[in-house]
Amino acid sequence: MNYLAIFFILFTLVKGDYTDGGWKIYHRAPLYTVACAQIIGKNALYFKETDTLGWCNLDNQPAVGTMAHALTLTNSTKAIDYFVNDCNKINPDGFTMDDFKAAFDNATKYLVANASAEPGFNITLPFNKPVAIKQAKIDAAINSSVSRYQNMNYGSIFGLVLSGYWFFLIILSGIWRLMAFMTPSFVKKFSGSLSNKVRKYITLPALFGKKHNDYFYIFGVFPVLIPTRWESIMLGVYWILVLAFNVCDFHHNVGNTIWVLQSAEMGRKIADRTGYMVIFMYPTLVLFAGRNNFLQLFSGWSYSRFILIHKWIARAVTLLSLVHAVGMTYNGKGIGVGKYEARNAKPYVRWGYVAFIAMALMLVQAMNVLRKSRYEIFVAIHVILAVFVLIGSWIHVSEDLLTPIYYSAAAVWVFDRVVRIGRLMAFGIRKAKIQLIADETLKVTVKRPSYWKPFAGAHAYVHIFRPSCFWQSHPFTIVDEVSEQNTITFYLKVKGGMTHGLYQYLKKQPNQTSEIPISVEGPYGHRLPLSRYDSQIFISSGNGIPGLYEEAKQLVQKKTSNLNMKFIWIIRHYKSIEWFYQELVNLEHPSVDVEIYITNGSAGVHKFWDDSSSDLNSNSEKNSEELNNEKTEEIESIIGELKSKLSHIKFIEQRPNMNDLLSKEIEQANNGTIAISTCCHTSIDDDIRRSLVNNLDKSQNRIDLYDQIQVW
Ligand SMILES: Cc1cc2nc3c(=O)[nH]c(=O)nc-3n(C[C@H](O)[C@H](O)[C@H](O)COP(=O)(O)OP(=O)(O)OC[C@H]3O[C@@H](n4cnc5c(N)ncnc54)[C@H](O)[C@@H]3O)c2cc1C
Ligand SMILES: *[C@@H]1O[C@H](CO)[C@@H](O)[C@H](O)[C@H]1NC(C)=O
Ligand SMILES: *[C@@H]1O[C@H](CO)[C@@H](O)[C@H](O)[C@H]1NC(C)=O
Ligand SMILES: *[C@@H]1O[C@H](CO)[C@@H](O)[C@H](O)[C@H]1NC(C)=O
Ligand SMILES: *[C@@H]1O[C@H](CO)[C@@H](O)[C@H](O)[C@H]1NC(C)=O
Ligand SMILES: *[C@@H]1O[C@H](CO)[C@@H](O)[C@H](O)[C@H]1NC(C)=O
Repeated sequence: MNYLAIFFILFTLVKGDYTDGGWKIYHRAPLYTVACAQIIGKNALYFKETDTLGWCNLDNQPAVGTMAHALTLTNSTKAIDYFVNDCNKINPDGFTMDDFKAAFDNATKYLVANASAEPGFNITLPFNKPVAIKQAKIDAAINSSVSRYQNMNYGSIFGLVLSGYWFFLIILSGIWRLMAFMTPSFVKKFSGSLSNKVRKYITLPALFGKKHNDYFYIFGVFPVLIPTRWESIMLGVYWILVLAFNVCDFHHNVGNTIWVLQSAEMGRKIADRTGYMVIFMYPTLVLFAGRNNFLQLFSGWSYSRFILIHKWIARAVTLLSLVHAVGMTYNGKGIGVGKYEARNAKPYVRWGYVAFIAMALMLVQAMNVLRKSRYEIFVAIHVILAVFVLIGSWIHVSEDLLTPIYYSAAAVWVFDRVVRIGRLMAFGIRKAKIQLIADETLKVTVKRPSYWKPFAGAHAYVHIFRPSCFWQSHPFTIVDEVSEQNTITFYLKVKGGMTHGLYQYLKKQPNQTSEIPISVEGPYGHRLPLSRYDSQIFISSGNGIPGLYEEAKQLVQKKTSNLNMKFIWIIRHYKSIEWFYQELVNLEHPSVDVEIYITNGSAGVHKFWDDSSSDLNSNSEKNSEELNNEKTEEIESIIGELKSKLSHIKFIEQRPNMNDLLSKEIEQANNGTIAISTCCHTSIDDDIRRSLVNNLDKSQNRIDLYDQIQVW
């Protein structure tokens, strides 16, 4: 895939072969020359910047001789070899070890200890005698330079490790997933009490309490999503790494030859470390936010999990950027009068501020409080700010020729956008029939291209071309029609945003139906190895049913023998059956046990299966809250008729108790593995997770929860 291109960019980066500055891993031997040059420079000038040969210029014997003496004091033959080799590369006349030795011997005769004491000395003009640097100064210079550049290495390596950490976990779960698909007995192998204990206490439950998909309110005001314990562990280790990487192995060099003040030294070291780390965290940060992230397919992790990780990487990046800015402030103020101000006047520093401010604003505007109610506005602002972050950081590092990592971050982003547009074009713009049913659900039916094939449980982002919402793309689960070829259907629950606008519009249309052009971006999601289990339980509520229905349908089609399936749908009113009636009929199969729980009553139910009778139709136009649930004789008879039409379904007029339900199911299935798929209202979903955790030790066999609701 095209991701190869991105990896190629990353790979060249890791190779880091930039001769002029740019990113590299610094090695000791070349650093010795850097250290010697730095300390010699404090004593005398030997050549102008225009001299490209510099220390390797054999016509400039004072320069070569001084360097030869300084390098010899480092006691490192490796450093000398490196210097000679390097000079040999850049000097057209060559540069041999004999040249080095001759320069050393000749310089011995002319060495001066204190250059500034020489007559006519001027630090801004090239000096014509070799200088002898004191051993202690050489030692200090080496310690200072090695410590400075090694710290940058740490920054790069730690940044790569932090990204690699996620890749490592993804590879592990990818392998697990492949095994589950390829070897049918794989899921059975990992059962037993130890496996169940691990899952009961570590991988399955929410971090604390019950809430996971349902918002938890901090101080009763700020909604937050609580990860599962397993996700918390992964994020916890990540943060431990982030913190450890930022405190380990910082050294102050006594008598540092680069920075006089310790505050300037430590400020810069902290800033370099965090700066490099942040740079290497960017491509992953961008990749995890995209819809077309190939790692999703491989790992089997949901988009919502990638978004969760994206958020925590973003928080780390912002925090480290702040530390970077504070460190550079200490450094600038500690170097000398005017340094801080001079730096702040430079465009690359100003763009750094822009990037940081945009980052901080993104954290604020992405808070659930603001995102939940105005999701589309959140997305628009988020994208604009992200552009500023990317451009700002890009310009900020261009001074140090570190931009290539931002090419790859930008490439990842552009790639995602291009694929999204490509997917929309592949589907094209098609007229969809949109109908409001039972006053609560919008049924969107559209012909799909024959090559555009959804799979069970897939979702897609729907663009509805009406002036108020064409730019919005909302995710909905795809139902592939059985009766009609190349036709897909979405069932949209009427909520407060785009769906509400459509609702208002359709209410005024004849038959509450309209033809509206739409386009569909997808299909997204991934297949689940549900057929690998001995029995399957599907629990959905309200509009969560389509995905689970598709999966159940596929299992029924594929596997005719020893199927053992329970399909539960929880709805508030009988009237909801109207919009999923045909599919419920399709679910009839000897080994599929369908149960519908009706929690609230008979409000709004009418005889939708018979077009001629629209006697109670008027009810559906009223808001369901206004309707009483009194069962008149007429409604009683309609419900009776409905039940007889759906005689393969058991209707239960109460709220299901998940604990009892799961406990019963687990006991019944005691001879096999179970896959529980859920897509319910968030609080019911959390209830199922909790109930499963409570009942897990009732079975020695593997019970997996495929929680298919995604909240991000
Ligand atoms: C993978 C997936 C599959 C889904 N399948 C279905 C389905 O089959 N049927 C169905 O009725 N609903 C489904 N949903 C939920 C559906 O996406 C939202 O109900 C819809 O986007 C709300 O639109 P609105 O503007 O009317 O909502 P609003 O009233 O504005 O918001 C309601 C909620 O939806 C969230 N939301 C709004 N827009 C988006 C968006 N673009 N992306 C993600 N979340 C958003 C908001 O954060 C808010 O919490 C699915 C969601 C996901 C993530
Ligand atoms: C020896 O060193 C001196 C001073 O650095 C220089 O002027 C002279 O040219 C050198 N002699 C040779 C033979 O390199
Ligand atoms: C080189 O050796 C000398 C003498 O043994 C010692 O004083 C000095 O510290 C050493 N320098 C380095 C950089 O190791
Ligand atoms: C070097 O010479 C200058 C000028 O004569 C003098 O100020 C300085 O103290 C000397 N440095 C050392 C280390 O002797
Ligand atoms: C040093 O040289 C510069 C020119 O390069 C000159 O402007 C300056 O006055 C000189 N300083 C001394 C102390 O001679
Ligand atoms: C240089 O570093 C070494 C070890 O890191 C230390 O033992 C030595 O004292 C340092 N030398 C100076 C001059 O700072």
